[in-house]
Amino acid sequence: MAHQSDLIGKDIEAYLYAQEHKSFLRFITCGSVDDGKSTLIGRLLFDSKLIYEDQLKTLESDSRKMGTQGKEMDLALLVDGLAAEREQGITIDVAYRYFSTDKRKFIVADTPGHEQYTRNMATAASTADLAIILIDARLGVLTQTRRHSYIASLLGVRHIVVAINKMDLVEFSQQVFDEIEQDYRGVTESLGFSDILCIPISALDGDNVTSVSGRTGWYQGPALLPYLEEVDVAKEQSELPFRFPVQWVNRPDLNFRGFSGTIAGGSIKVGEEIIVIPSGKRSRIKSIVTYDGELEVACADQALTLTLEDELDISRGDVICAVASAADQSNQFAAHVLWMTEQELLPGRQYLLKTTNRTTPATVTELKYKVNVNNFDHEPGKSLELNEVGYCNVNLNQPIAFDSYEENRRTGSFILIDRLTNNTVGVGMLVFSLRRAKNVVWQEMAVDKSARAQLKHQKPCVLWFTGLSGSGKSTISNLVDKRLMDLGRHTYVLDGDNIRHGINKDLGFTDVDRVENIRRVGESAKLMVDAGLIVLVSFISPFISERRLARSLLEEDEFIEIYVNTPLEICEQRDRKGLYKKARSGEIKNFTGIDSRYEEPEQAEIEIKTSDCTAEEAAMEIVDYLDSKGYLTF
Ligand code: ADX
Repeated sequence: MAHQSDLIGKDIEAYLYAQEHKSFLRFITCGSVDDGKSTLIGRLLFDSKLIYEDQLKTLESDSRKMGTQGKEMDLALLVDGLAAEREQGITIDVAYRYFSTDKRKFIVADTPGHEQYTRNMATAASTADLAIILIDARLGVLTQTRRHSYIASLLGVRHIVVAINKMDLVEFSQQVFDEIEQDYRGVTESLGFSDILCIPISALDGDNVTSVSGRTGWYQGPALLPYLEEVDVAKEQSELPFRFPVQWVNRPDLNFRGFSGTIAGGSIKVGEEIIVIPSGKRSRIKSIVTYDGELEVACADQALTLTLEDELDISRGDVICAVASAADQSNQFAAHVLWMTEQELLPGRQYLLKTTNRTTPATVTELKYKVNVNNFDHEPGKSLELNEVGYCNVNLNQPIAFDSYEENRRTGSFILIDRLTNNTVGVGMLVFSLRRAKNVVWQEMAVDKSARAQLKHQKPCVLWFTGLSGSGKSTISNLVDKRLMDLGRHTYVLDGDNIRHGINKDLGFTDVDRVENIRRVGESAKLMVDAGLIVLVSFISPFISERRLARSLLEEDEFIEIYVNTPLEICEQRDRKGLYKKARSGEIKNFTGIDSRYEEPEQAEIEIKTSDCTAEEAAMEIVDYLDSKGYLTF
């Protein structure tokens, strides 16, 4: 909604022009309703005359009915609709409110303050220029104050306003204010904020909200709203090195070839030299085309089409950069990750990583530490749970162009997507690229897979047996192995129980360890296929994601998934190793089928229902499959 301006009546053209050319501030408010957050936002809207007549009427009657301020209007009710929705169990990601004054337009993002809403706060903070951290003057810096400050800092918010609220309840005491300010500055010293302004306010009475209050004579700084109108955040964006992620190649006819997208940092002029990442090719800007005509200069946030002086091969996903400071490129880097979903982060699992304009498979290879968001401590951990933050190494299938998040929040950030559900499961902030990636190169071998296979007269492949413990995987794969030996084929068996005595003896049965177990086995099987062998892999391998990963390491017909389908009741009846009994009695934890899940294959090449056939018959079926598909001759 627009503010009320005299210009509307006097000169509508001038009013519209002024509106269009006003600068813009995105900010986030952090705190809980008890700190007076809703009252503060309500006060900002109310005092800047940003409320429609009908809203005002509703507010007046609501205040009488359910307000907490006696005869006065309860401004919190303007915003507390959200709280009511929350009580009804409606999930609120982030509530955005728009308002404007004569000088500036604002978007304020309001998120719930509790720890379980950390991910919502992070979402809002990721696009905010400034954060207002609310502190109750009676309570001072609390755990939540530290958490909010940390998340704001992690998500790149550099300007902080600490609104020390309820000053009326501490008699507008300068001493209380000074102590809280000192405490806050000390606590957040390591967070790298570029400026922190502490303001003593009373959101309820309006002190220092839209104008400086007479009740805090000792306070020399600005009131909140005038400060929000003045604080300079635009400079930072346009001073960044130029970044233009290409969203699409615009080629309406043979005479025009332009690259469209939104400037993600810095500015550009016609005639300036650019470099394209990843190709490293250079050219100069020929024109900057927008919907309203051509420009000489353009800067961050503008959506436009660039044409170049040379015909370069540029495609969607490339980044056009300033020559003097091109984006880095790497497929391995360190990053902070905030986990946003119930199912924990599993290092070793493949997710999709999406940056401004490129999506590629990615794995968190190592979780170095978790950050306790309440006190900034580093803690050890194997995985991340919902709302937890970790510092990790990430590995990609293909290099991307990137900046550190500190340098550029857009090109330096990414999201992680679950490959099965397509849900966003994490957000990440790049810290630096790991040079290791550049120094390890792929060695071409003189003797290749095909030569090795030919020598053995077979087509190498993996027979991947999956199924519950005791389903019969090892029994059947042993019979297949024996039969193949008899036929003079070259095989090798990787079996869960055996491998867990050797290369995987450091792993247990948590989800995290199982993911790593299968990742290592998948990689080992790939090497053996490369050596020309038929590899029989016999692991429970309970998760679709990791079986899919193992499949993806090989060529299309090299991975044969065999689902040894034996109902849990039968496995449990057999219980050859006595493990089900132990699992039922609680002696063994995380036992597949009992208190750890098994995800059935979606499209196994072969399904063996062991209740319908003997192990010998099953083995014959598999060998026949190999024979009929030409694996046993070459
Ligand atoms: S996987 O899930 O990571 O693929 P893997 O096949 O290596 O498991 O190991 C399974 C074998 O470990 C089982 O056949 C069983 O003998 C033994 N085992 C011990 N504890 C467990 C457990 N909690 N869950 C499943 N199997 C277990």
